[in-house]
Amino acid sequence: MTGVAIVTGGTRGIGKEISKALAKDGFKVCAFYAGNEDAAQAFRDETGLMTVQVDVTDDEHCQKAIAQVEKQLGPVTALVNNAGITRDGTLHKMSLENWREVIDTNLTSCFIMCRGVIGGMRERGFGRIINISSINGQKGQFGQTNYSAAKAGMLGFTKALALESAAKGITVNAICPGYIETEMTGSMRPEVLDSIIKQIPITRMGHPDEIASIVAFLASDKASFITGTTIAANGGQYMA
Ligand code: CAA
Repeated sequence: MTGVAIVTGGTRGIGKEISKALAKDGFKVCAFYAGNEDAAQAFRDETGLMTVQVDVTDDEHCQKAIAQVEKQLGPVTALVNNAGITRDGTLHKMSLENWREVIDTNLTSCFIMCRGVIGGMRERGFGRIINISSINGQKGQFGQTNYSAAKAGMLGFTKALALESAAKGITVNAICPGYIETEMTGSMRPEVLDSIIKQIPITRMGHPDEIASIVAFLASDKASFITGTTIAANGGQYMA
């Protein structure tokens, strides 16, 4: 079954490729974006897909946006929680603000968005929820107590919601990308990024479409018996 998919952080980076892959598979896709209007316009020009500007940390804003999607495209059958930010820094230098921003944007957004679509999915007896976590939620990362905590939190969240949803025809899974070529990794200090690439057995960073193809699989009927799982795609950098 295809239907309607929402992809948060869906106009740039990994999210953009996810939106495109789901559309290619027949989903009517709406990409949520935080505020980069130029990127959203470029995404619309390239794909012709619907976009909505949404602050994923704001419950009311999200519920309104979900209602708008359902009115325009129909009931949401797939949700990809991909929106995420970094505010890297060692804990002894990290502000409470940088902690909260990352927890709210990366983890609380997952609660808010799932809470917004789960009722309809339960009523209709079908749904696909895919949470984009990170290798750094699995292994921890120097300078990322906030991000690693949020991404690890998504993994526990995924398993708990999978248990609650399995009998209702809803699968809930997580993907842990490693270091992927995006603006996020592009903003890292070059020497730090180089030292990380040296730790990747496949000897390169990943490409966004190498994550999007996993999302497309998990959203498809082929993955109907997979729930509560975590799929790692990190070039061999970490084997959980
Ligand atoms: N392990 C152990 N020690 C380390 C280290 C590491 N990985 N990295 C740095 N150190 C040491 C340094 O050698 C230095 O030691 P001395 O004080 O003895 O010289 C000390 O820690 C301080 O290091 P920095 O000077 O680098 O500290 P900083 O405060 O300037 O920078 C930082 C800290 C910005 C967090 C920097 O370490 C950094 O950028 N780390 C990488 C964070 C990262 O991987 N981010 C990923 C972003 S992309 C993403 O998150 C997507 C995804 O899902 C994968």
